[in-house]
Amino acid sequence: MRNSHTNTLLTVPSGDLQIPKFPPANVRTDSRNIYFSLIIPTYKERDNIEKVIKILSELIEEFLPEDYELIVVDDDSPDRTWEVAQSMMAEYPNLRVMRRQQERGLSSAVIRGWQVARGRVLGVIDGDLQHPPEVLAQLLLSIEQGADLAVASRHVEGGGVSSWSAMRRFLSRGAQVLGLIVLPGVVGRVSDPMSGYFMVRRSCIAGVTLNPVGYKILLEVIGRTNVGEIAEVGYVFCERKEGESKVTWKQYVEYLHHLLRLRLTTKQVGQKSRQKMAFPIGRFLRFGLVGLSGVFVDMAILYLLSDPNTLALPLTRSKIIAGEIAIFNNFLWNDAWTFADVAMQQQEWHHRVKRFLKFNIVCLAGLVINVLVLNLVFNFVIPNRYIANLSAIAVATVWNFWVNLKLSWRVTDVK
Ligand code: GDD
Ligand code: MN
Repeated sequence: MRNSHTNTLLTVPSGDLQIPKFPPANVRTDSRNIYFSLIIPTYKERDNIEKVIKILSELIEEFLPEDYELIVVDDDSPDRTWEVAQSMMAEYPNLRVMRRQQERGLSSAVIRGWQVARGRVLGVIDGDLQHPPEVLAQLLLSIEQGADLAVASRHVEGGGVSSWSAMRRFLSRGAQVLGLIVLPGVVGRVSDPMSGYFMVRRSCIAGVTLNPVGYKILLEVIGRTNVGEIAEVGYVFCERKEGESKVTWKQYVEYLHHLLRLRLTTKQVGQKSRQKMAFPIGRFLRFGLVGLSGVFVDMAILYLLSDPNTLALPLTRSKIIAGEIAIFNNFLWNDAWTFADVAMQQQEWHHRVKRFLKFNIVCLAGLVINVLVLNLVFNFVIPNRYIANLSAIAVATVWNFWVNLKLSWRVTDVK
């Protein structure tokens, strides 16, 4: 029986950040293995934690009665969040609480929680109600249906952010694009690599030493471990009602550090996942052909608008119009041919328009990259404008292809 349940806090593991293959033998008398362990990392969430625990317990109890645990990992919050959680343990027998006084940081908090977890499936959710709890059911279902990793994503059907400013969206997407360039084989596998709401099979991450750097533990899980099949479930990132976000500029710097560190240290470990994500050569060729068709469209329109024998409009104005029509042409062909399989699944108008806008932005950025590379190569590498231009076009094409693949048509590694 669970009467032996006392209000003792969990002992904080020390040493390597490694998840054991088998759940650790527990000091408690009711020690047994369970299906699901959900970590709730908290720092200064006093006004949220009660509600979070209540909602999550009631929800999970419904589909996994008694077969789960909630583990709050609090970093000794000055508002004593851990104390509030601890006081709820009597009422919620599946709740466990850890108060960390030596270490700090979101990623390591999650890992420390997983280290004491008894579940076969390990999950994480924010402790501020910004992650809608209802999504848990679908995430669990995906795991049951065979996925190794199930990620709640803002960037698939049903996903989104509630009311983010353009600046915040831009920063978030910028971080993703940076990841796509530095760590394509890891970041490109999912549509929302920044998600802090996911679950993974213990068997996939056990025995690997994880790194505590940064806020984005999912990168670590995809980059260093053996996850095979990945599933995604759309969710809307809600606004915070209580407390405040802990994200500052420091987290962006840490993110960069994290990307580079993964890049430099995952040559061997990430192999398995990298093999699975072969470069989509067929799509790339089609994309290239479509790009070529754009050159002809651009030329033809430029002739029609600016040639002295035709409309004789000013050159710059003509070129801008010609360029934009070429982008439109390319979009149509890519949507109907290169990415036909993806487009088929999202035929509604607003989806098409959204894809077109993204494509447009990515291609314009591609143009900037084109000019930059042209100048760099011409001035510092080979002082031949045509070779420099060819290299610039090559780099911009790869950029246009890769970023559009991942952001506009969102081709990921997800079934
Ligand atoms: N233990 C511990 N230690 N918890 C922390 C720490 C820490 O140093 N820093 C933040 N947390 C907890 C917060 O209390 C909250 O429950 C959760 O981690 C997310 O922190 P927020 O500060 O609310 O982050 P956000 O709202 O910007 O969320 C973004 O990051 C999350 C975590 O990666 C989004 O990208 C989310 O999707 C993502 O889950
Ligand atoms: Mn938050």
